[in-house]
Amino acid sequence: MAELETAKSAGFCFGVEKAVNTVYSEIGKSRKIYTYGPIIHNENVVEDLRKQGVGIAMNEDDIVRIAEECRKDCTPATVIIRSHGVPKKTLDFIREQGLDVIDATCPFVARIHRIVEEESAKGSQIVIIGNAGHAEVEGTMGWSCSGASVIETKEEAQNFTADPEKPVTIVAQTTFSMVKFDELVDILMDKGYNTNVVNTICNATRQRQEEAREIASRSDVMIVIGGRNSSNSAKLCDICRGVCPETYFIQTVRDLPVLDLGSAKVGITAGASTPKNIIEEVQNYVRTGRREF
Ligand code: F3S
Repeated sequence: MAELETAKSAGFCFGVEKAVNTVYSEIGKSRKIYTYGPIIHNENVVEDLRKQGVGIAMNEDDIVRIAEECRKDCTPATVIIRSHGVPKKTLDFIREQGLDVIDATCPFVARIHRIVEEESAKGSQIVIIGNAGHAEVEGTMGWSCSGASVIETKEEAQNFTADPEKPVTIVAQTTFSMVKFDELVDILMDKGYNTNVVNTICNATRQRQEEAREIASRSDVMIVIGGRNSSNSAKLCDICRGVCPETYFIQTVRDLPVLDLGSAKVGITAGASTPKNIIEEVQNYVRTGRREF
């Protein structure tokens, strides 16, 4: 029988749990509910919310349309900001359209927004170490009053230039790889600017990455469960593959090929937006060899 080890840190982190609970607690309050973007990178949860009447606003055009509909049918609406956060101008825009906002931005992300807002106002040049285009990074950029540079690769760090007369403040996307962050900071520090580094990778991410590496290093097969678009899950997969070549990245147990696990040691971890029941399905499959669908 396969020997199973599941990471204690697998699944919802504090910020995601808080945001998802916020949405569920608003259902049934005689008003329309929307999330700004899917509340988490998990199709099952998003579908469940859709069935309960929760809509998704993807952009400012959707906000304008929702505000018009609410005016026409005299129903109030609440827009819930997900844990990734949004640029300041987006928050202001939603409120200007007359919609209520519940801001479920994770407090660790909101802290980065404050640092970026304050340091840019003092004249610092902002560098965000993270994935360009990721919603959290876009949101963080939107709190700087003087723009921001996003650095994701060694080449980008090597090519980075700044005004030598002004300080540079470096922050990180909360789910960035710790090892990569240190590498990129070393390159940037060598440039000799007056640099202030705030490592804003959140503790939940650190623990999840460390535990994933430890478990993968003593496993024959590693299973990482996470959404297709979840960058923290993709990073877990990279980390695990680095020490355990037989690593599978799946959304649900249905994505797993039929495995002959025998007496293999099997490790499981999951990204911050993976619900408990999806992890349990995978655990049951590893224990029994049966997929119940
Ligand atoms: Fe917050 Fe960290 Fe989760 S920043 S949303 S607790 S991954």
